[in-house]
Order: sequence, then C-alpha cells, then structure tokens
Amino acid sequence: MIIPPQNHIYNEDQKMTLITWSDELKRGIGFQDDDHEEAVKVMNALQTCTDEELPALFDQLHSHTKEHLDRENELMVRIRFFAIEVHKGEHDRVLAEMQSFKEKLDAGEIAEVRKYVEETVPEWFINHLNTMDTATAQFARQHGET
Ligand SMILES: [Fe+2]
Ligand SMILES: [Fe+2]
Repeated sequence: MIIPPQNHIYNEDQKMTLITWSDELKRGIGFQDDDHEEAVKVMNALQTCTDEELPALFDQLHSHTKEHLDRENELMVRIRFFAIEVHKGEHDRVLAEMQSFKEKLDAGEIAEVRKYVEETVPEWFINHLNTMDTATAQFARQHGET
C-alpha cells in the first residue's frame, strides 16, 4: 500500500516529520496497530519537545519500541513467518541504533539526537511499516491472527 504524502511530511523549515495516524496505517493485527498508533504519538511529541523534555520522551520511544519489536518477534515465531530472520534482524539493528543514540543523549549530544528523531526515526517507521510489517501482518492474517 502506498501511504499518501500527507501522512508523512518532513517540513524542511521547521525540521520535523509529523505523521498523521489514520486507518490507512493499520494492517489488521490488533496489537500491532495499537503499538504503531502509540509510536506515532511519541514520535510526534519528539518533534516539538523542549531540550528538557527530550530525555524522558526518548526513553519512552526506546522502551516502547523494544516492547513492540519483541511482540512482533513473538508473533513471527508463532506463525512461523518465512522471513523472520530478515525482519528480526532489522529489529535488532534499529534497537542497537537507538541504544547508540541514547548514549549520545547521555553524553549531551542533543543536536545529533534531535536530527535522529526528526528525520531518521519517522522515515524508518513508515518504511518499515510499509514493507516488513505489512508482509508479516498479511501472513499473520492468513494464519488466523487478528
Ligand atoms: Fe511494527
Ligand atoms: Fe517490525
């Protein structure tokens, strides 16, 4: 499915990527859709937060992402998803990346972390949702998951 551009707009002047949650982003697996909606809320909050608010929101993004990816990994095991290695490998990669930015945040490298949450994270999220998550959800629905 192609996501209309209004769902995902990087604003060059304001340096933010706001995602509009809508049914078009749902893939028909309840926990996955709920988690993705929650992720959008946290990602959007990160676009407009103050430097003081950034660490707590980043921690929220990190822990939510870890829990969500664990749930998707469990789903893939349960349904014996054919591309589990690739999909789980991408989950591991993004978690390691997030951890490295957590360390930058702890070291006070705010500008780098801002760029990461304003561009890289939302771009990754939409791309990942449209590819690996979509394929997994489709396979899961075919195997009776809802
Ligand atoms: Fe996901
Ligand atoms: Fe995923």
